[in-house]
Amino acid sequence: MGRLAGVAGAALALLAGLAAEGAAQPQDGRFGFGRPAAPDEIAAWDIDVMPDGAGLPEGSGTAGSGAPVYAAQCAVCHGPAGEGGVADRLVGYDPESTPPFGPRYEAWRAGRDDVAFSVGNYWPYATTLFDYIRRAMPSDAPGTLAPDEVYGLVAWILAENGIIAADAVMNAGTLPAVEMPARDVFVPQER
Ligand code: HEC
Repeated sequence: MGRLAGVAGAALALLAGLAAEGAAQPQDGRFGFGRPAAPDEIAAWDIDVMPDGAGLPEGSGTAGSGAPVYAAQCAVCHGPAGEGGVADRLVGYDPESTPPFGPRYEAWRAGRDDVAFSVGNYWPYATTLFDYIRRAMPSDAPGTLAPDEVYGLVAWILAENGIIAADAVMNAGTLPAVEMPARDVFVPQER
């Protein structure tokens, strides 16, 4: 046996030993370790919300219910008014249009570079905003927000962007009906 093969054999033996020690109930199978994911473990990851709203959970929120959550958990990175800070701007603003929100793309086509990108002017679906916030934010503790908190945060961001009324209730029924200013700039693609 060559020296390298001997080293590899020793490494494999060590791995096998670790696996036998670590796995409480080795499954019959190729490697003899691991276990099938439990349904509740799969459910914790199976939280996709599609553009049409499929997958939205029960619950609801308004800009008013989202504001304190935003102040406590988001403002530190995204700015108290969503104007951006160490992380992206969430509230867009075009000083030249009335209302001052709309697809950033139109201003870009007009050759203007003074309109900042934000959720308000380039995000295509309110539903996927929910999906993103629930799975990824706050970025230092993703997955910790309850559905009511996410509905409230989405409502706050949409209301600050002038897309929904300040008192509009966001839930699985109303969120898919929100028309984002940049909706038509995007083309859905099945991959
Ligand atoms: C510790 C800093 C931090 C905190 C706190 C935080 N975020 Fe973020 N957020 C980020 C970063 C960084 C990104 C950009 C991530 C990327 O591009 O991959 C981001 C991106 C986003 C985006 C996408 C913006 C875009 O332009 O595409 C949204 C929406 C968002 N965050 C919402 C929230 C909300 C709501 C909260 C509060 C629950 C929150 N964030 C808390 C750091 C943070």
